[in-house]
Order: sequence, then C-alpha cells, then structure tokens
Amino acid sequence: MTGASSRRPWRRVAALAAGFAWCSVAGCGPEEESGRAVVSFPGSALGAEAELLRTQLARFTAQNPDVEVVSRETPDAADQRHQLYVQWLNARADDPDILQLDVIWTPEFAAAGWILPLDRFAPDASDFFAATLEANRFGGRLYALPWFVDVGMLYWRTDLLEAPPRSLDELADTAAAGRARASLPYGIVWQGARYEGLVTVFLEVLGGFGGRMLDADGQADVDSAEAVRALEFLHAQLHGSRIAPEAVLSWQEEQVRFAFQNGRSVYMRNWPYAYALMQNPSDSKVAGRFAVAPLPAAPGGAPTAALGGQQLAINAKTDHPDAAYRVIEFLTRPEQMIERARVAGQFPSRISPYASGALDGVLPVPPADAQRIIEAAVPRPATPLYTELSGLLQVRLHRALTRQQTPREALADAAREMNALIERVGPLEAGDVSGGA
Ligand code: GLC
Repeated sequence: MTGASSRRPWRRVAALAAGFAWCSVAGCGPEEESGRAVVSFPGSALGAEAELLRTQLARFTAQNPDVEVVSRETPDAADQRHQLYVQWLNARADDPDILQLDVIWTPEFAAAGWILPLDRFAPDASDFFAATLEANRFGGRLYALPWFVDVGMLYWRTDLLEAPPRSLDELADTAAAGRARASLPYGIVWQGARYEGLVTVFLEVLGGFGGRMLDADGQADVDSAEAVRALEFLHAQLHGSRIAPEAVLSWQEEQVRFAFQNGRSVYMRNWPYAYALMQNPSDSKVAGRFAVAPLPAAPGGAPTAALGGQQLAINAKTDHPDAAYRVIEFLTRPEQMIERARVAGQFPSRISPYASGALDGVLPVPPADAQRIIEAAVPRPATPLYTELSGLLQVRLHRALTRQQTPREALADAAREMNALIERVGPLEAGDVSGGA
C-alpha cells in the first residue's frame, strides 16, 4: 500500500464499502502523510489474536519508525478470507501489502503470480518445521514464512473420563457413556459446516481408517473403502448414536469451542488456540477439567492430526516489499512466536523454542510432545488446485452428513468431480503434491 492513499482514493472507498476498518497501531483514523512506508496487514482475530498482533506491531513500529503498519479486519473463517483475497488479488490491488495465508493456499497464490518469492530477502529458513516450509514452496522457491502451526487435537473432559480413548470405537463408546453419565447434551463436537474445517475433520478420521485424499499419482482417493468407513463413522455420530448434535453441520471452530467450553460435551475436536482460552475460569466452565490427546485411529489406520496454520507472504503488487518483509521477519522471530504461544496458545512454527525451555508449561502438552505431534501431522495436498478440490469435497461431505446422499454415493461423486478437475487442468506437476492426506 502506498503512503499517499489520497492518490488512490478508490481503495479507501472500496475498503469502507466492504466494511473494513483502517486502523494503524496507534489507533483508527486518517492515514498519515508522513512519508513513511505504510504497509497494510489483515491479521486474524480469533481469541486473543487481535490484541496480541496490535502489541507486536506496536513493538515493531517502535523499533522501525520509518514503517507504519495498518491492520485491517478480515473474516476468521478460512474460506471467507480466501474469497476476499482472491477478489483483491484478481483485481491486482496493491494492498494489503502483507497477506496472512492458510497453509494450503501458498501454491495457489504463487502459481497465480499473486505473491513474491522470498529469495531476494535471503530468509534463514533453517529453524522452521520441514512440512510447513514444504507447504510454502512452489516451483522450488519459497513464497511465505510459517507464522504459527495448527494441529488437530482431541479435547477431552478429565472430570468425566479416566483416560483419552485408544481407538475410534472407544471414542464413540465413551462419548455416549460419558454424555449419559453426566447428562450432557453432546458426546462430541466438531467442525461440520460446509467449509475447510470440515475437510480437516474428515481427513483426520480418514487417516484414522488408513485412507488419504490423493493417491501417489495425484488422483483423488476419497472413494476408497477407508474413506467410506470414515464418512460413515461421522455420519453415525449424527444420525445413529447421535453423540454429535446436528447443529455441528453449521458450526466452525468458535461455535464448537463455545459448546465444549460451556460444559456441554465430553469431547471436542479443535486446534490449539482453544486451549488457552478455555483455561480462563471467568469464561470457561471447563477450566482445569480438560486435557488434549491425539485423535485415535481404527485398526489399520494411524492417529492423524491435520497440519494447519498460517503463513505470511507479500503481495506481488506491493509498493513496499522491503518494509513488508521487515514486518514478516519481525513477526516470525522466536521471541514473538513464544509470546504468541503464551498469549494465544498458538504453536511456534520454529523448532528451536521447543527445546529452549521457553515453552515449558505454556502449551497444552509438554513441548517435546508438541514437537512430535507437529512433525507427525499430515499436510493437506500442496497443489494450486487445493482450494477447488477441497470445495468439491466439502459439498459432497456435507450432502452425506445432511442425509441428501449416502456416504458411498457422495464420495463416489466427489472422487469423480475431483478427478475431472485434475484431468481438465492437466496432471499435477511433480512435486506439487506432497503429504499423505
Ligand atoms: C485453521 C487452520 C487452517 C485450516 C482452518 C480450517 O485456521 O490453521 O490451516 O485450514 O483452520 O478451518
């Protein structure tokens, strides 16, 4: 974004029309004509994130008085934010200068020419988890730096159960038994709305049954016997044992957290951010009465956590690539990540903090365990087609879960549609597909 917004009044008008606030870290108001580089940054605001980002950006500007950072509110929901970015970037907008990307978007944005390769800044990437870096490379070049890592986890009530479940069957059984014993409305809650979160839930259960999203040749594998069992498992929770409420079919991360936090469910599937928030007894009825565990598997499958998380990249049209990179470099330093872990519960994407002692007592699990969970987490396929493939899958998963189709029919349709898309676009380039999901 250029310092003189008055030269481009349409941008501000468009932002206002879209309902976005322009706020510098010093507060909201007219942009200064100070001659400083002004870079804009839409960060997510789940839980404590917004406040933390403000603090860290204020620290950055105190140390870098020649750069002003303005933040912009964007939706927290992954798919909505993606849609907004696509509108901006398709229109060749030069702001936001910095983009917060979901781990699955980098290849798509890089292939579209929307983000800058970071080579020219010579980032030291040696400290980041390999899988997160892999997800941010395209055509052999690095396009984004991992900001924080998400891994799917099973939250369980320590006051209702003695131990976390060791298998998917045990998960279903103890959800039903625990709910009955404690007279709770729900046994388990998860992200079931038709959006990316549902795909992550499905991929975790799919891995638990031994399946995957794409096979080694880059073809959709979501109509396998394992996939049908995985979707039937989720379906049965809604319409068989009814341990999960049908309401989850419109729930994203936060609605799921509220249900668990209000003491209404034995189990919850969610990301790490929920842990820190639910420890606060003034908001949470379950403070001190829950723990996290890996999602269990069925015989023949492996416990599977989806690898999620957010990255920072630079808009290819920015007027201030150097200033934008300085902000990114600052926010991805170990000390900012450690603070993020402490305040917002989000896992650092650098490896060094896990062994440094700085995370002791900060994460829901001992740091060495967290590191193992991250290293074992399953990435979603790294391809520019990911968003479209996921969109096709989302529709079919949701149709099955809302009983418009059987799981088997829905997954056969999903596989056919996904493969038709892959065929239309041509084989995925070697190296585009990574990860076992
Ligand atoms: C979290 C994860 C992201 C995932 C999304 C799904 O934001 O970080 O990777 O795609 O949830 O809802």
